[in-house]
Amino acid sequence: MYRYCGPLFDGFYVAIVSDGRVVCSCRDAWNVLTLGKVPNSSLYDIWHGEAAKHIRNMFRENTPPDTCLNCPFIVSTYDKSKLYNTINTPYMVFLETNATCNLRCKRCDRKKILEDRETPHMSLETYKAVIDDLNTLEYFKALILHNYGEPFLHKDIYDMLLYTRANAPFINVYISTNGMLIDTREKQKIVAATVDQIVFSIDGSSEDSYIQYREGGNFQKAFNNMAALADEKRQASSDIDIVWRYLLFKWNDSDEEMQRAIELSEKTGVLLYWHITSNPPGAQSAKYTIDDKINTPKIESRLWLEPPFGVLNLKRNNCNPDKWERIAARGLSDYFARYQTRHQNRLQTISQGASSELSTEKNTQAGGFARKYITMLASFLKR
Ligand SMILES: C[S@@+](CC[C@H](N)C(=O)[O-])C[C@H]1O[C@@H](n2cnc3c(N)ncnc32)[C@H](O)[C@@H]1O
Ligand code: SF4
Repeated sequence: MYRYCGPLFDGFYVAIVSDGRVVCSCRDAWNVLTLGKVPNSSLYDIWHGEAAKHIRNMFRENTPPDTCLNCPFIVSTYDKSKLYNTINTPYMVFLETNATCNLRCKRCDRKKILEDRETPHMSLETYKAVIDDLNTLEYFKALILHNYGEPFLHKDIYDMLLYTRANAPFINVYISTNGMLIDTREKQKIVAATVDQIVFSIDGSSEDSYIQYREGGNFQKAFNNMAALADEKRQASSDIDIVWRYLLFKWNDSDEEMQRAIELSEKTGVLLYWHITSNPPGAQSAKYTIDDKINTPKIESRLWLEPPFGVLNLKRNNCNPDKWERIAARGLSDYFARYQTRHQNRLQTISQGASSELSTEKNTQAGGFARKYITMLASFLKR
């Protein structure tokens, strides 16, 4: 039996933290396994560099680094050949533009994260160089603009979003926020025009339950900003997905609290997803866990499934395999239907301009990527 690292072999993703260090996973909050540093080196060189090779070899010799042993992305396999089929370059990157935060949520060890980072904010110049670099990678498609910290606390975040959309139109941009700072029409306009998906982390539907986890936050303010963005989306006919990610804890899982969230999400037109988490210890919902109870229609239809993390969440938590394969398949097909439509729409807009030839080429790549991604994710889930 061999252990196997999804991120480092399959290219699920790497994370780039605020000071430019590249680490093998967003889980590696303390950079135990640093692979290299951008923008001094390109991501291609880092992915194929000595540090990455060394770690992969440790897996091949069946002696993974200690830091990997508790990683949720480790899977087991009897087939050693899987440890030699490394993808050319990653197709997803977590990019931490900012490691500071205006909130103090219970799971986030703010002090430890900030002690670790050489600089808590990535400069706009470095950011642009990273985007230009990512844009050259053959399979690269998904940029996740958060890791640890609040991205909208970065003074240049709106310039970063504009730069990305203008220079890398076929990279899908995802961002997650506590929602406290997107509070003007001008900011909302930029977000609606540049991002593919924005997640609002709002864990509750009342001030009392919300504040138990999101210390320093304010439910009404975060909710109002999300609702205002949904309004801007309608006015601008934007295709952005606005997701309300509601982590289920023991203090916010009552029928009443959850029903209120459903009604609020329907009224504002945002996508509400429940996320079952076992983090931090002792806070877990007893009512909803990833096991047979997810058959409850209310939970299953709104379960957080966005690939790959929502889907991997099912696997990690030992959800009944028959069930997670069925649920995961639905999540993937919904996701790719949206993904393909969005690229077609963007292509249409761009091809009215001068760069239609390049766009057509990139759009074909996007379709190829989607097919490849489905195949890889499916094989990863089966291990
Ligand atoms: C560390 S946060 C950083 C981005 C931003 N500050 C936010 O809160 O959305 C990244 C993601 O982790 C999620 N998250 C926070 N606490 C979590 C927990 N205990 N279990 C699972 N996910 C969590 C958030 O909802 C968010 O989508
Ligand atoms: S808002 Fe996000 S980054 Fe800030 S403490 Fe909470 S989870 Fe961590």
